[in-house]
Amino acid sequence: MNSASRLDSFGGTSVPLVNAVTPVPLLDVSRQYQPLRTEIMAAVARVCDSGRFVLGPDCEQLELSLAEYCHAKYAIACASGSDALLLALMAYDIGHGDEVLLPSYTFFATAGAVWRTGAKAVFVDLEPTTYNIDPAQIESLITPATKAIIPVHLYGQCAEMDEINRIGKKHNLAVIEDAAQAIGAEYHGQRAGSLGDLGCISFYPTKNLGGFGDGGALTTNNAQLADKLKLLRLHGMQPRYYHQLVGINSRLDTLQAAVLNVKLPHLDDWSDQREVNAKRYHALFAAAGLDQVLGLPATGAQRRHVWNQYIVRVPGGKRDPLREHLANLKIGTEIYYPVPLHLQECFKSLGYRPGSLPESERAAAETIALPIFPELTAAEQRAVVGAIGSFFRIKAVGNLGSLIPTARLMNHISSPSQGVAG
Ligand SMILES: Cc1ncc(COP(=O)(O)O)c(C=O)c1O
Repeated sequence: MNSASRLDSFGGTSVPLVNAVTPVPLLDVSRQYQPLRTEIMAAVARVCDSGRFVLGPDCEQLELSLAEYCHAKYAIACASGSDALLLALMAYDIGHGDEVLLPSYTFFATAGAVWRTGAKAVFVDLEPTTYNIDPAQIESLITPATKAIIPVHLYGQCAEMDEINRIGKKHNLAVIEDAAQAIGAEYHGQRAGSLGDLGCISFYPTKNLGGFGDGGALTTNNAQLADKLKLLRLHGMQPRYYHQLVGINSRLDTLQAAVLNVKLPHLDDWSDQREVNAKRYHALFAAAGLDQVLGLPATGAQRRHVWNQYIVRVPGGKRDPLREHLANLKIGTEIYYPVPLHLQECFKSLGYRPGSLPESERAAAETIALPIFPELTAAEQRAVVGAIGSFFRIKAVGNLGSLIPTARLMNHISSPSQGVAG
C-alpha cells in the first residue's frame, strides 16, 4: 500500500494533507455537547423542576447503569474522582502507620488521597511502553506496613492487572484501581473498575465520560464495601443524624447525574472514535517517517485502550521546543505530567531525589499529549502531524524562526521513505 492510499483510507481525499495554520484545540467539549444539547437541557430542566439537587433517583439510575457498564456489581457515585480515591482508602481503614504503593507518574490526586489518610505514599517506577506502574518493581517495596496498591490505568489503558492482583493476593493487600482516565478500558475483556477490589472513576469534564462540573464514582463486586462506601460518602450517617462512622460529604449533584445519564449511552461510540483517531495518528506519523523520531503510544496485548490521552515521546530535549512550535501554530497540547510525584515539593519529606525513579523522570521530560478527542477531524489531525513534521524539518536545517513551505512539507508527509532529518 503506498503512502497516499494509506492516508486516504483514514480520512477521505478532499482535505489538504497539511495545513499548518489550522488551529486545533486539545479538547473541544462543545462539539460533544451541541448534538446532545436538547436532551441535556431537558434533563437539567427536569432536575430544576423537581427541586431535588443531591443524589436522588437520577443518581441511583446512574449507579445502576455505571455498574453494568463497568462489569461490576455495585457503583457508588460521589463528588469527584479525588474523593473516590479517598473514600476507597477510608473503606479499608487505611491511615497513620500504613503504606500504600502507587505510581509516581500520575495525576496528583492518587497520592494526595493517600497523604490525606495519614498513610505513607510509596512510589513505584513505570513501565516505559505503557507508562503504567511496573509490576516487576512492586514486590521489593512491600513491607509489613503495606496495606494497598493503587494501579492507575493511565491515559486510558489498563495496568498489568493479572500480576498486580497476584501480588495483592499473596501479600493480602487491597487493590484499588485508579480508573479516573479509563472508563470503558478493558483487560482480557474485563472492564476497568472491576479488575481489582475497588475502582475509582472521575467525571471531570476532560474525562471520556465528562460531566458539567466535578463528579466521581466507585465500583466494586463486594457488597460490604459498597454499603460502607455509601455510608462514608454521607458522613457515616444512617439513619439520618445517627453516625456509625466518620465519613465525609461526598455526594454527587443530581444535575451531574442527569447529564451523565444522557451521555453514558454514547460513551462506547466516543471511545471507538478515539481509537479511530489514534490509528489515524499512527498511520500519519508512519507515512511521514515521524515514527522514527517520536515514541508513539503502544497498546498492550488483550487490552481495549480508550485513549483519554494520546501521548508521544519526544526525546533529545526537543519536547519543550516542539510544544512551543505547536503553540505558535495554535495547536493545543499538554504535558501530563511535568514533575513526577516523588519529586513534588509537598512530598519532600519522603526523601526521594532526582534519579530515584528514572523512568518516571524520563517520561516527565519527554512526553506530550496531542489532541485525541472523539470529534477531532481528519483534517485537524493532518494539521497536527504536518506541524510536527515542520518542526523536525526546521530543526534539521537549523532555522527555528520560519516554517518550511507547505508544498515541501506535503511532499515530505506523503513520502514515508524520506527521513525526517533529510
Ligand atoms: C489518574 C487520575 N486520578 C484521579 C483523578 C481525580 O479526579 P477528579 O478530578 O474527578 O477529582 C484524575 C483526574 O484528573 C486523574 O487523572
